[in-house]
Amino acid sequence: MKSMKNLVLTVNSNRVSLPNIVMESLEANKHEPLDWLDYPYGDNYALAPDACRFLQALIRRSPGATVLEFGAGISTLVLAHSTVCGSLCATSQGAPMVVSIEASHQISRVVEGRLNEAGLSSTVKLNCLPIKLKLIAGRLLYFYSITIDKLEQLAPIDLVIVDGPPGHLGREASLYICMPYIKPGGILLLDDADRVPLEQVWLQNWKAAFGDAINIWVLKEFERYLAVVQIEDPKTCPKIMPWLFMADVRRIWSRFRRVGLRELLAPNPMKGPP
Ligand SMILES: C[S@@+](CC[C@H](N)C(=O)[O-])C[C@H]1O[C@@H](n2cnc3c(N)ncnc32)[C@H](O)[C@@H]1O
Repeated sequence: MKSMKNLVLTVNSNRVSLPNIVMESLEANKHEPLDWLDYPYGDNYALAPDACRFLQALIRRSPGATVLEFGAGISTLVLAHSTVCGSLCATSQGAPMVVSIEASHQISRVVEGRLNEAGLSSTVKLNCLPIKLKLIAGRLLYFYSITIDKLEQLAPIDLVIVDGPPGHLGREASLYICMPYIKPGGILLLDDADRVPLEQVWLQNWKAAFGDAINIWVLKEFERYLAVVQIEDPKTCPKIMPWLFMADVRRIWSRFRRVGLRELLAPNPMKGPP
């Protein structure tokens, strides 16, 4: 295996070693087969094959885990398949429990159809929830309208996978919303961490908001970079950063002028880049 130093960039964080389960899954992921999956090569929206393999390795090492995904698709099929695809999950703790949140009815129907075809529909609870503009941790951000009740039911969450909302709406809210419901030592994976300014800025804002309560690594060996955020202390509240709120207002105002009130308040997740 290559030296982790070459693979890991810490973002405003002390250089501490990656969680064991992530290290093990990184070592194993090269050998994870994806031949069971009809991978849609050329589809920029789907989780990249290397990240799919890593996710498969990670889930196979997470018996009994509670997994929450934002942004369904190929990744959901990988999660579903991994819960049943090996002896690593078949322990007394049982298979992981996966909940996936998607905003598009069209994507939800396709994913449901493919889960049914594969006989995997019972392994994932897929919820179609609209994306809304909300005041979250002193910010004006878009996120899925997941309720506190739902998060409380799921808590403590072991793994959160953030591959939605689509980039133009932003994914920064994911950690502000999920933080209290993730277990100490739990992990949030943020895909597309190579995008400047999007994910790169959100990661810096997370570090500024939560300080030592989180550790962040950006795994540059992945095609689109994958950020691993480990939650040390889920009880920490985010620091409110008023200057970011002012930037949100400017961004939202300019979006309103471009797309109008209807699309501003009830955005179509299928419009825009991944
Ligand atoms: C990056 S995609 C999520 C991909 C998903 N995790 C996967 O592995 O296939 C983020 C969101 O974009 C939207 N989306 C997915 N496919 C799309 C497409 N072909 N065109 C437009 N939007 C799409 C969906 O709402 C999806 O949740």
